[in-house]
Amino acid sequence: MAKKVLGISFGRRMSNCDIMVKQALMECQEAGCEVAFLRADDLNISNCTGCIACVIQIMMGKGRGYCVRHDDFDILDECVMQSDAVILACPTYETSVTGRFKTICDRIGPSHDITFRKAAYEEGKAAGKPESELPDVRCFKKRTAALISVGGAMTENWIALTMPMMYEFTFPMGIDVIDTVEYYGAMAHESVLGNPEMMDRMKKVGQNILASLNAETEEERIRWRGEEEGVCPVCHTRLLQVSHDGRTVDCVVCGSHGTAEITDGKIKVHFTKEEMDRSRLRWGGKLEHSTEIKTQAQPSGTIKNLKELKAPYAAFNPGAFEPEADAFGNIKK
Ligand SMILES: Cc1cc2nc3c(=O)[nH]c(=O)nc-3n(C[C@H](O)[C@H](O)[C@H](O)COP(=O)(O)O)c2cc1C
Repeated sequence: MAKKVLGISFGRRMSNCDIMVKQALMECQEAGCEVAFLRADDLNISNCTGCIACVIQIMMGKGRGYCVRHDDFDILDECVMQSDAVILACPTYETSVTGRFKTICDRIGPSHDITFRKAAYEEGKAAGKPESELPDVRCFKKRTAALISVGGAMTENWIALTMPMMYEFTFPMGIDVIDTVEYYGAMAHESVLGNPEMMDRMKKVGQNILASLNAETEEERIRWRGEEEGVCPVCHTRLLQVSHDGRTVDCVVCGSHGTAEITDGKIKVHFTKEEMDRSRLRWGGKLEHSTEIKTQAQPSGTIKNLKELKAPYAAFNPGAFEPEADAFGNIKK
């Protein structure tokens, strides 16, 4: 059966992200893959309200982990479930991903975490439930991804947070990122079509996805194919956070923890195997987090007089400032 590759663009219609994803998809289609393309802005997907019904269902074994809201997220979810690989391109807005990208990641959220879903699936299966009442088994399929961030600015640090944030789409479902491209300075071309080097790189993205899909071993399937190794050996990104002790560092993207030092003039991190296995990109790190939610999140009713304690805050509603009549604000009086 032909492998399925899903491309999602979070950019403007027929602008850089659309064209870049399509170029990579065309490469996959030419090699015999079945491809699908979604534009995030064509989907009507509302924000996560934080009701946590999706996670509660999974934890109680009473549902499939779906959002109580049914909107176009269901279209995206079905496409992801069918896919063997995803190629995402997101513009940089204010140094980071777009609001819609974040909205979609929040909707993927903990409910799609494979450790949550696997536990619910296995418990439900053991209890004799039919597949139709269990978390979607397709969630556990091994998938690979390529991530592309795009920014207009000529200075690379203006796109610094976009790529790290893009991993929010892939890590809950354990999708293995095998290639990333950070395209900055996009404004120097009317369209990426005026940048043949970048268009060639998109063909390479498609080829890298194909190589992963055709791999015969798991090691080869997840092999990193990006142009740079990056700093973190687990996720290959370059965003480190210095710990409060001032001596150790965390990889902001995947949560690996250890030390950093300069060797031969280069900043290198030392993450032990145990720490790397606690990365949220790996089963151990994910399981640690879903277990802490299962065991440490307090149920409602533990603070007996909570309603009373909340009362002054519920009654405190100063509202918005009145528009200033003598200022040239945007609100018409
Ligand atoms: C609200 C907004 C904020 C932006 N902020 C940044 C930014 O911080 N850094 C940057 O490099 N480009 C920024 N840009 C430019 C876009 O990243 C750029 O136009 C990109 O090509 C958009 O992707 P698209 O062409 O696929 O639509 C911003 C654009 C908008 C609309």
